[in-house]
Amino acid sequence: MMNQALLTAVTPPPITGPNGPFLELSVIVPTYNEAANIQNLFDRLERVLEGVAWEMVVVDDDSPDGTSRVAKELAAHDPRVRCIRRVNRRGLAGAVVEGVLASSAPYFAVIDGDLQHDESILPQMLQQMRGGTVDIVVGSRLEAASFSQGLSPIRKVLSDTGSGLVRMLTHVGITDPMSGFFMTRRDIVENVAPKLSDYGFKILVDILICSPATIRVAEVHYVFRKREAGESKLSVLVAFDFLDLIIHHLFRGILPPRFVAFAMVGSIGVVVHLAVLRTLMTAVPALDFSSQQVFATLVAMCGNFVLNNQFTYRDRRYKGWRVVPAFALFSVACGIGIVANAGIASWIYAGQHLWWVAGLAGVLVGVVWNYAISSSFVWARSRR
Ligand code: GDD
Ligand code: MN
Repeated sequence: MMNQALLTAVTPPPITGPNGPFLELSVIVPTYNEAANIQNLFDRLERVLEGVAWEMVVVDDDSPDGTSRVAKELAAHDPRVRCIRRVNRRGLAGAVVEGVLASSAPYFAVIDGDLQHDESILPQMLQQMRGGTVDIVVGSRLEAASFSQGLSPIRKVLSDTGSGLVRMLTHVGITDPMSGFFMTRRDIVENVAPKLSDYGFKILVDILICSPATIRVAEVHYVFRKREAGESKLSVLVAFDFLDLIIHHLFRGILPPRFVAFAMVGSIGVVVHLAVLRTLMTAVPALDFSSQQVFATLVAMCGNFVLNNQFTYRDRRYKGWRVVPAFALFSVACGIGIVANAGIASWIYAGQHLWWVAGLAGVLVGVVWNYAISSSFVWARSRR
């Protein structure tokens, strides 16, 4: 009932009021180290959005390059600019949601702060939204062009796989589900905000999955530009993150995205472990099996630590010498986890004799234990 109302109650926004134009469009710009791009982006928005009552909301995660300072200086001279400076937090998705919730315009767009998205399609997107026949307009990167421009071939493959998965979950067919460039009505996000994950980058897919199945999506194609200043923060993580979000939703949101990430890294660890063990068995047959096993365990543990540091807990990442004590703590935790794993598995096996039930239960206890210790001690917020 409410969902239906959500999609049909499209009140045409008032364009002007007694005191000048009402705000119609908020352009949300998540930033991390984009100081060199902000002014340029603002100038371009000003050019293409002429005649529209718009504002730019920069949501900055306390970038060391002073992005928020630049944005606030801009804001001091132009009321169309606002800046939310978030401290001790990292994450594109969370930043976008916060920007949207801080806006009061009926429509909002999300655009990267690095000028890679083509702002000149914004008026066309707004036109479609005003028409009231669509709920979301996605800026989709043109395929052929994406290759030669900003998008690498591997990301193209990932993007195609992603489209299939999204279609499976939402019945919405879009060519660029990983897009970070779109426009929609603010009430759509206000309604699903408590369900959205603030972990990771994949905000568009999250909105689509959390919204009613009847959501109407349109696409406007554009050419993804090359980044000129600053550097990309997402890289191959985008794919991990995407899969993470999909698994989180497949389990009906019961498993937190960070736990899913931790378990995904753990599965990679198992593969690494077996590969190293197999290689050692053929390459150094003279070494006894238990030494080979210990070596494989160490390699897998190092790999898991690095991946968790880079991916699962990227917002609390250790750098430099601080990696050492963190790794020591992680190793001890994993050691206890292995003992618990083996203990539970043998206990169940003794009573049940079902090897796979015992094995799975052991793994489950091990993963949950390692996750709990990692989240509350190794990468605890208070330790950062
Ligand atoms: N607030 C905040 N916090 N902003 C962030 C963070 C963060 O932790 N990480 C990145 N950003 C900002 C960047 O400053 C930039 O404005 C935008 O988010 C996109 O980040 P990039 O680092 O430029 O991403 P990309 O170009 O590699 O990725 C593009 O393609 C992805 C799909 O392949 C983007 O368009 C993504 O949105 C898209 O998902
Ligand atoms: Mn970029």
